[in-house]
Amino acid sequence: MTGTQIKTPVASWTRSCDVVVVGTGAAGLSAAVALQASGLEVAVITRAGVSDSSTDWAQGGLAAVWSPADSTELHLSDTLTAGAGLCDRDAVADLVASAPDALRRIIGMGGHFDTDAAGEIDLHLEGGHHARRILHAGGDQSGHEVERTLADALTAAPGSTGPRRSSKSGRLQVFTGTRLVDVLTDAAGRACGVTVLGGGGACGQITARAVLLATGGIGQLWPTTTNPPVATGDGLAAATRAGAVIRDAEFMQFHPTILVVPERHRIPGDRGVLISEAVRGEGAFLIDHRGRRVMAGVHPLADLAPRDVVSAAEQAHMTATGEDHLFLDATAFGAQRWETSFPSILAMCRQRGVDPVSEPIPVRPGAHYHCGGVAATMTGRTSVPGLWAVGEAACTGVQGANRLASNSLTEALVMGERAARELASGLGSAPRPGTAVDRSESGLIDGSGIEAIRRAMSRHVSVMREASGLAEALGVLDRLAGTDRLDDAALSATNLALAGRLVAGAAAMRTESRGCHRRSDFPERDAAWLLHIDARTDSRGRIILSRTDQVRQSQEAA
Ligand code: SIN
Repeated sequence: MTGTQIKTPVASWTRSCDVVVVGTGAAGLSAAVALQASGLEVAVITRAGVSDSSTDWAQGGLAAVWSPADSTELHLSDTLTAGAGLCDRDAVADLVASAPDALRRIIGMGGHFDTDAAGEIDLHLEGGHHARRILHAGGDQSGHEVERTLADALTAAPGSTGPRRSSKSGRLQVFTGTRLVDVLTDAAGRACGVTVLGGGGACGQITARAVLLATGGIGQLWPTTTNPPVATGDGLAAATRAGAVIRDAEFMQFHPTILVVPERHRIPGDRGVLISEAVRGEGAFLIDHRGRRVMAGVHPLADLAPRDVVSAAEQAHMTATGEDHLFLDATAFGAQRWETSFPSILAMCRQRGVDPVSEPIPVRPGAHYHCGGVAATMTGRTSVPGLWAVGEAACTGVQGANRLASNSLTEALVMGERAARELASGLGSAPRPGTAVDRSESGLIDGSGIEAIRRAMSRHVSVMREASGLAEALGVLDRLAGTDRLDDAALSATNLALAGRLVAGAAAMRTESRGCHRRSDFPERDAAWLLHIDARTDSRGRIILSRTDQVRQSQEAA
C-alpha cells in the first residue's frame, strides 16, 4: 500500500455521512451548497470559523467574460499566455465558457457585484488581461461577498441550523474548529473518511463515501504571505499521505505588491496586506527609491504584465540596487477614488502608518497562490478513488505555470458545483468503501520547527531559486525535530514541512525558468521542460518525483 498516515489516538467521537467536505472557502462552500441541495448527507469541516478562508480575504475579484467587447477566445488566450505553456487548453476552455454562469449563480443566490453609473456590472482590469473582465464587490472586498453569499445559502438551506457553530440537523452537519488530520483509505486504496483534530485536542473520525478537499493553499510556508493563518497545506499534505498524485508543486505564485509595514507600525503576528492588482489596473505603477519606473521596458504591458513577470522584475531590480522593497505609486487617484474603489486597502494601509492618498506604498512580492496541487480533473476527481479536490488545493491545468489574476475564485465556483453534481449523480452506483485500514506511520514534526521552515523557504524557495539553495532548504526540512504529541502546532509543522519538500523538490528538479518558478542558474524557459512534475509518496513517506508526458494542447510553444 502506498502512502502514510499520522498516528491518532482512539477517536473520541465518530460520525458518518455520504460526503465530507473539508474547507469553507468558495470551492468548499459551493460544493456543500450543491451537495446539500442534491439530498446527500453532507458533513462540512472547517479548521476555524466558516469564513476563515483565503476567499474571504480576496480583494481583486472574479474573471468572466461579461462585456460584449470581450470574448471567451480572448479570456482563453490570456489565461494560456499567463500559464507559460503548462495550461491544459481543454480545462481552460471549459473554465472560461463556464465562468459567466458560475457568477450568475452567485448573483442568483443574492451576491452583489459593483455596478457603474448606468447600473451595469462594473468591470476591473488586472495584470495579463487584455479586456476588462473582473467582477468585483465593495470595491476591494470581492471574496468577502462571495463567502457571505455562499455561507448564507448554506445556512438558509433546508436541514441546516446554520454553519456558524457545530450543528447536526437533517442532512448537513457543520463542524467548526475541526481540523483535517488525514484522509482514511480502505484496503483497495479508496478514500472512506477522515480523521480530525478538534480545538480541545480530541480526535474524531468521520466515515464517508467520498471526501472532498477544498483546503486552499500553502502561503503559510513563507513569512510574507497574503494567505490567512489556516493556509498550511493541510489538504495537500493529507492527500499526499493518502497516496494521491501531486502536480507541479514548484509553481507558487508570488504577488508583486504586498505592503511592507514601516518598522514602527509592525505588530507581531500581523496579517500580510495585499495591495490588489486592480490598483495597478486603475493606473498605479511601481517605482524604486529614486522614483524610477520598475516595469518600464520590461514587458509590453508594463505594470500590468502577468504577475510572474512583475514579481521577477521587482526581485531583479531589488537585487541590482540593494533595495529591500519598492513602492507602488497610486497618489494620482486622490482621496475620493481611493475611498470608493479600494476602501479596505486604504484602511489597512492607514492602520499600518501608510497613507496611499499622499505617499507611494512600500511593497515587495509575497507568497500568494499555489498553482500546483492535488492533480484533479475539472470535476475534482483525483488519482485516489473517492477523493476529490477542488479550488486552490487542486491542480487541474487551468492555472499552468502561473495563474492569471482573478481566475481562481471563478475556478473554485465552477469546480465546487461540478464536483457536487458528479458526486450526486455517481455516488449511488459507486462501490461502497470498505473499512479504513492503517497505512504506515508518518512521523510528526514538532511545532517549534515552523520558524525554521519559513526561514528556509523564504531564503531559498522564493521568487528566485538556485540549486544549492534548494538543496539547503531540503536539508533543513529533512532535519526538523520530531515529536510524538499530535497538537495543532505539530500538525501545522508536519504539513508545512511536507508541502515545503514537495515545492522545493520539484523546484530542484525543474532546471529552467517558467511562469512563477524562476531559477537564477537556469534563467531561460526550456522547451524540453514542457512537462509536468508529478509527486507521490511511497510507504516510507519518501517523495517520488517523475516527469509526465508532454503537456497536451498547450498554446504556448515553450
Ligand atoms: C489581487 O487582487 O491582486 C489578487 C487577485 C488574484 O490573486 O486573483
